Amino acid sequence: MGRYDGRVAIVTGAARGIGAGIAKRFAEEGAAVAVLDLDEEQAVAAAKALGGTAPAIGVGCNVSDAASVDAAVARVLEELGGVHILVNNAGITRDNLLFKLSEDDWDSVMGVHLKGAFLMSKAVQKTFVDQKYGKILGLSSVSANGNRGQANYSAAKAGVQGFTRTLALELGKFGVNVNAIAPGFIATEMTDDTARRLGVEVEEFRKMNAEANPVKRVGHPEDIAAAAAFLCSDEASYITGQTLYVDGGAKI
Ligand SMILES: NC(=O)c1ccc[n+]([C@@H]2O[C@H](COP(=O)([O-])OP(=O)(O)OC[C@H]3O[C@@H](n4cnc5c(N)ncnc54)[C@H](O)[C@@H]3O)[C@@H](O)[C@H]2O)c1
Repeated sequence: MGRYDGRVAIVTGAARGIGAGIAKRFAEEGAAVAVLDLDEEQAVAAAKALGGTAPAIGVGCNVSDAASVDAAVARVLEELGGVHILVNNAGITRDNLLFKLSEDDWDSVMGVHLKGAFLMSKAVQKTFVDQKYGKILGLSSVSANGNRGQANYSAAKAGVQGFTRTLALELGKFGVNVNAIAPGFIATEMTDDTARRLGVEVEEFRKMNAEANPVKRVGHPEDIAAAAAFLCSDEASYITGQTLYVDGGAKI
């Protein structure tokens, strides 16, 4: 018996990184999982690699496009027979200091993190309310508290926290819990790309970031997946509207 037996989870941006880690953990605990990502082939490959016993599907979806989101959610309902959990994980960075940050850098980051979370949450809301059950989990970041070169990303990740609290207020009485995780430095393609952009070796960048927090190591997708598996479980049904920092103490 897994904690997630009989549940269907959608994880956006789950072809790799943190999303793939969360999808794997849900699958291991018994959930049927829909991996949503930009490229359908990569989403399908990631779904095949999950290794759970319940079905897993990969669906091509751009979370910042309403028609794409509605089509993806309709496919999940059709192919997996329902939906109980939504993790709004898809994300991008377009870092630059304010004077170099373009309108497109701003719009694309807002489009994926905020509009994406809005469209996806709206698309599952009716199902969640009708069945009087649902879990929505957002991905914020320690950058929500400000980070040089990330005005767009920081604003989006602070926005995720406000969005989380508001949906928790609106949907609590319908049996829907809405929470967020704010990761610190997690070793993924996203942070490896940042290292390359800064001209720092990936390993060196990880070492620098490990030194910057009390536990003296970087985080891994499994660290976020463990917190996600708790927050989206029935053991956490009295927890809503919260943002849990999973950052090795970096925010202390
Ligand atoms: N890695 C970190 O240190 C860190 C820290 C804090 C928060 N986060 C957040 O965690 C989440 C996952 O980050 P990651 O490090 O795994 O990133 P990643 O770049 O490794 O993976 C992100 C995934 O999202 C997908 N994606 C991007 N735009 C999309 C769109 N429009 N529609 C659907 N899918 C889309 C990408 O294709 C990719 O598979 C993001 O929201 C990120 O902001 C990451």
